[in-house]
This record gives sequence, C-alpha cells and structure tokens, in this order.
Amino acid sequence: MSDLLDKAKEFAEAYLNKMNNEKIQVGDEARKNLSHLDFDLQQEPVDELEVIERMNKYIEPATMKMTSSKFFGFVIGGSYPVSIASNWMSTAWDQNTGLEKTTPATAAVESVSSKWLLKILGLPKDSATAFVTGATVANFTALAAARNHVFKKAGWDVEADGLIGAPDLQIIISEESHPTVYKSLAMLGLGRNRVTKVKTDDQGRMDISSFPEVKENSIVITQAGNINSGACDPISEICDLVKNKNSWVHVDGAFGLWAKASSKHKYLLEGVEKADSWATDAHKWLNVPYDSGLAFVKHKHALKAAMAITASYLPTENAGRNPSDYTPELSRRARGVDIYAVLHHLGTSGVEELVNRCCACAKQFAEGFAAADYKVMNDVVLNQVVVDFGSEELNLKIMDAVQKDSTCWVGQTIWKGITAMRISVSNWQTNSQDVEESLNVILKIAEEIKGK
Ligand SMILES: Cc1ncc(COP(=O)(O)O)c(C=O)c1O
Repeated sequence: MSDLLDKAKEFAEAYLNKMNNEKIQVGDEARKNLSHLDFDLQQEPVDELEVIERMNKYIEPATMKMTSSKFFGFVIGGSYPVSIASNWMSTAWDQNTGLEKTTPATAAVESVSSKWLLKILGLPKDSATAFVTGATVANFTALAAARNHVFKKAGWDVEADGLIGAPDLQIIISEESHPTVYKSLAMLGLGRNRVTKVKTDDQGRMDISSFPEVKENSIVITQAGNINSGACDPISEICDLVKNKNSWVHVDGAFGLWAKASSKHKYLLEGVEKADSWATDAHKWLNVPYDSGLAFVKHKHALKAAMAITASYLPTENAGRNPSDYTPELSRRARGVDIYAVLHHLGTSGVEELVNRCCACAKQFAEGFAAADYKVMNDVVLNQVVVDFGSEELNLKIMDAVQKDSTCWVGQTIWKGITAMRISVSNWQTNSQDVEESLNVILKIAEEIKGK
C-alpha cells in the first residue's frame, strides 16, 4: 500500500510542481499516445504499481494544464494544495456522505462549511445548503425546491402528482442565461422553451424596463456573473418586483456570487439576499477539486420536500442533518471536506483577497488591451474580460495562434453577435506577473497577425 501511495504522491507532486511552466495545450504526440490506453482487457490481475505508472505515462501528458496560473479559459479554478491534501484524505476515508448516523464526521463538516459559506456570501443564515457536483446540478436542485414551493402554494403536490394537470407556471429567464439553466429546466420537466425571456442591456444584465408582467405562480431565474461580462442582473429590483406574487427568485451565481465575499465588489450584488435560492460553484472560484457545487435555499422545507428520501430502511429517525435530505443523490463522496479545508486555510480575508486579486488581474488585462488600442467589449467589474481585435477573422486567427503558442490559454465566445476572445481569471495562483507575461504573448501575436 505505502509504495503505491508514495508513487501516486510522487507523480502528483511532480505534476503540480511543473504546472506553471508547462505548455498548457495538449500536444499532438500526447494526444496520439492516448491510444495506448485502449487494449483488450486481460484476464489476470496486473500489479498496481504498473497500473498507475502506465496511467501516469499516457494520461498525465495529455491533460490540459487547467490548473496553471495562466489558464484563462471558460471559468476554471485550480485546486489549493490544502484541498488536494484534504481530497486525498477524504478519498481514503471513503465516507458515503448520505446519512448523519452513519457518517457523522463528514455530515458535521458539511454543517460547519454551510454556516461559514452563508456568512461569507452574506446569505440568510438559516438557509439550507446542498453540496452537489457543480452549478448545473446546484441550479437543478434549487429549481426543484422552487418548483415544490410555488406549486404547493398553488395547491399542487408536484412530487406526488407530477406535472401532468398541474396549474400553470410562468418561468422568467434572461436571454443571456447560461445554457445549463435550460438543461435544468428540461430535467425538471419545466421545459426549455416554456420560458419568457427578458432582454439584456449592453453588459448582459436583465433589462428591468423590459420585464414582463409577473403572474401568480412564477419562477424568476436571475444571474450573478454573466459568463461573458461578469455583470450581475438587478436582482434586488427584481425581488421587489415579484414580492406580492406566488413567486420564487433564483440566482445562478456559478462564479459571480463570490463577489459577495469582497467588500470591494459586493456592491454588484446588493440585495441578493432577498432572493429565495442561489447556486454557485466551489470548483470555480473557491479553487477546490472537481466536482463541487453549492445550492443555497432560503426555504429549507421546500428543498427537503423536493430532495428527501423517505424509505423505511434508512436510519433517518432522530438523526441530525442528513446530507442526502438536501441533494439529488443518496450515496456520494464527502465533497464538503475540500470546501471546509480551503475555508479554514484562507479565512474570510483569504477568500476576499482571492476574489480581489483575480478581479485586479482582469482589470490589468483590460488596461493592457485598451492601451494597445484593442476593444474591450465589457465593463470589467469582476474577473471576466472580452476582447475584440477588430474582426471575427482576426479574432479567430489570434486565438488559434495563442492556443498554439500555449504560454497561456484563452476562451472563445460569441457575445453580442461578435466572435471574441474571453478571458476569465479564476485561479488561486494567478498574479500580475502571469497577466503581464500572457499579455505580452497575446499582444505580440495580435501585432504579427495584423501585420500579415
Ligand atoms: C453562470 C453559469 N451557470 C452555470 C454554469 C455551469 O457550471 P458547472 O459547469 O459547474 O455545472 C456555469 C459554468 O461556467 C456558469 O458560468
């Protein structure tokens, strides 16, 4: 056992230590070598050391170096070392974190983490927290609670009776909602298309003047952190608009909700606590390993009604906080452990410093592009920057060359009808030197391509 684990540690350490100086993109040869993983499974067991050595040989080189301090694609965090360590330990503990009675330690860790998170994010302290796989499932989980709550008030038990014959339900959503929100609506039987879309302004925020009349029985899905601009919907105003209706306001804050952890940026989300539920990711800006997302729900009973399992063989009686009462899964890993480790390590000031540093780095990018006379399409209020170098053709060529150079990695988006470069600063290590080095490469490539 110990040789095996020592070897795994050696491989992982070597990987992490070289991370920031590696080419980020997967090279052609490494990609080709993945074919070595595919063979007819032999009949007899193979030595464990041989298994992991082979995995390290072929898998590791073909990994995208997403945890690099110069990876700016999608919205992707790395993993704080303390969360990698806690993740290894919790894998060894292998707790099936469904029931408090059987896994009291990891259930307790989730209770404490929940309390800390609600405080850091400034959300109502009695809200229920679900530790799920990511923001997609966090949105799904919170919207399941919304579905329960609104239908229950309309006199319909959706968990028991389903949706056939249910009262009418209005769903209001931004025209720039993340595609995974539609996926959640589809999975909940609420339909991707049965939605009323609200127009957005030049920053991708819901335009309150275009808001439809809110009917009885409605769910309004807002966004904290537009995937392109980082802008936040006017959530407080929206909550005021719906407050006398049988309505539920949900906030998809996959990364943007973390603005609340910073006294400098929380103005973006003033009044967000008036909403009924919030979704965010820990594997993005909190920089814990995948897969880790969070749903917070003000009305605990609605979440429990939507998620709880009541089977007679399960020891739920007199139990404390059963994690599975809040999540779609019964059996799952103890993902709260990594969140606990990072929060304990950073403290509230560390989380704030992380958010502020990433936002400052995004500003540095924007200033660098602007100084070189390139158009930054968004007001850089958070960690996102969208750049237009002049035309779609130019943008595509520049992005392609930047990825091939592979010093840094940038995202591609279509925003406001323009194919552009999107940069997201979400990694715990990224600092102003990383930005400077990346800017130098991107601007040099842009000049070369423009000069051709
Ligand atoms: C606003 C928003 N919502 C939802 C998601 C989905 O998150 P995940 O991929 O963690 O499920 C993302 C991912 O980038 C996002 O930015």
